[in-house]
Amino acid sequence: MNELSVLFKNNREWSDQMTRMNGNFFTKLANQQRPKYLWIGCSDSRVPANELVGLLPGEVFVHRNVANMVIHTDFNCLSVIQYAVEVLKIKDIIVCGHYGCGGVHEAIENSSQGLINNWLRHLRDIKFTHDAFFDTISDPEVRNDRLCELNIIKQVKNICRTTTVEMAWKEGVPLTVHGWIYNIHNGLLQDLDVSVNSLDSIKSVTDRAVGQVYQRKDKIEVCSAA
Ligand code: CO
Repeated sequence: MNELSVLFKNNREWSDQMTRMNGNFFTKLANQQRPKYLWIGCSDSRVPANELVGLLPGEVFVHRNVANMVIHTDFNCLSVIQYAVEVLKIKDIIVCGHYGCGGVHEAIENSSQGLINNWLRHLRDIKFTHDAFFDTISDPEVRNDRLCELNIIKQVKNICRTTTVEMAWKEGVPLTVHGWIYNIHNGLLQDLDVSVNSLDSIKSVTDRAVGQVYQRKDKIEVCSAA
């Protein structure tokens, strides 16, 4: 059996297992998806959206790209947000980054990786914005951790400023944008306390969250479950 046929074997076993647990599982899902959450995460293979929050197929609408970014000219991501808010009526959008993000590392190093350097330029721009803060940190790991956090806050702000979310709020639709970070060392999520639920609060909430990041001078905990 070659490597790829193992995947088909695994798939059949998974399908059987899901059907044993709930005979109608696929029939129900085939008729309609009703996910409650939109997850915008990194493409990193160690950060699988459904698994780490214990959700089954049908429960979370997912968009992933390198370094979990929401760029105002990326019609792929913007279409996902529009469909999630206007068609699926999702009320919670989560942008979830992670410590140890390769995209963040490459952006800080500015190493030559080809086409992707253009994508990572957005991350370098975030770093440039906070250069005075980064100049105070000498440890490269701490710099990476802080840019991972600041990137998430920036992406929360970008989501809030999409035409879809602006319009939803102007029409009084209840909608909250959250920023979370995943620790690849212990499998735990942390809320960055940057949840925004109105146009009026974008600046105050994201400025406060940036202030909290500026207070953190240490490396992230790698083994604690706290
Ligand atoms: Co990543």
